[in-house]
Amino acid sequence: MEAINPRPEIRVFDSPPALFHGAAQEFASRVQQAVNRNGRFSVALSGGSTPKGLYSALAGTSFAALPWDKIFFFWGDERHVPPDHPESNYRMVQAALLSKVPVSTENVFRIRTEASDAGLAAQEYEQSIRNFFELGAGQFPRFDLVLLGLGPDGHTASLFPDTAALSETRRMVVANWVEKMKTHRITFTYPVLNAAACDMFVVTGEGKKDTVRQILEEHRDFPAAAVNPQNGELLWFLDRAAAGK
Ligand code: 6PG
Repeated sequence: MEAINPRPEIRVFDSPPALFHGAAQEFASRVQQAVNRNGRFSVALSGGSTPKGLYSALAGTSFAALPWDKIFFFWGDERHVPPDHPESNYRMVQAALLSKVPVSTENVFRIRTEASDAGLAAQEYEQSIRNFFELGAGQFPRFDLVLLGLGPDGHTASLFPDTAALSETRRMVVANWVEKMKTHRITFTYPVLNAAACDMFVVTGEGKKDTVRQILEEHRDFPAAAVNPQNGELLWFLDRAAAGK
């Protein structure tokens, strides 16, 4: 398959609810395509606060008929806290989505961040991905969809500016020390993000509009700007506030 280097497909919605419904419809469409083609759908979820609205939309009646038993859930990053901690991305997704749809635990690949050694949690998670995708050495997984958020500093997943993970080219998952937070974050690296069939940013709010413009129009080299799947699609779903319109 020849490499395609897509310009981002940018979609702007009038409001966060409209954005979350549009993103849920995109998610559902990709589920159907992947299940029809391969019998399953693999997705890496984003954390933080923005995607809660998307996860809640997916838990709604409009999407009850999705083949939930064929959807396999991963996370693009996780905080180094236990799964029941208020800052846990797993906990957020569990509350907003997984507790409301018929998904068995075998379909949920949680990052085991209760381990005191963040590096060990990263290694275990990488091995679970390797097993699921039946990867050989040096191969990277092709997720059907990777959901991503954007921080005002231009980070995505837990690829923060000036952190070691930005230059990782061999490992899929690393424990990334984030000095400004004085903590490790477990995160996908660029090889995984850029091997995906689709990377989809979901961004809302005035607070992100400058960073969005600097990435999409001025091509500033923020971490999020280096997400560009060579053989996949790159989507930016924005509300009007984040699009600066
Ligand atoms: C996380 C996310 C992170 C998030 C951005 C935006 O673990 O926090 O993966 O990359 O997407 O920080 O966060 P908000 O959606 O809360 O603004």
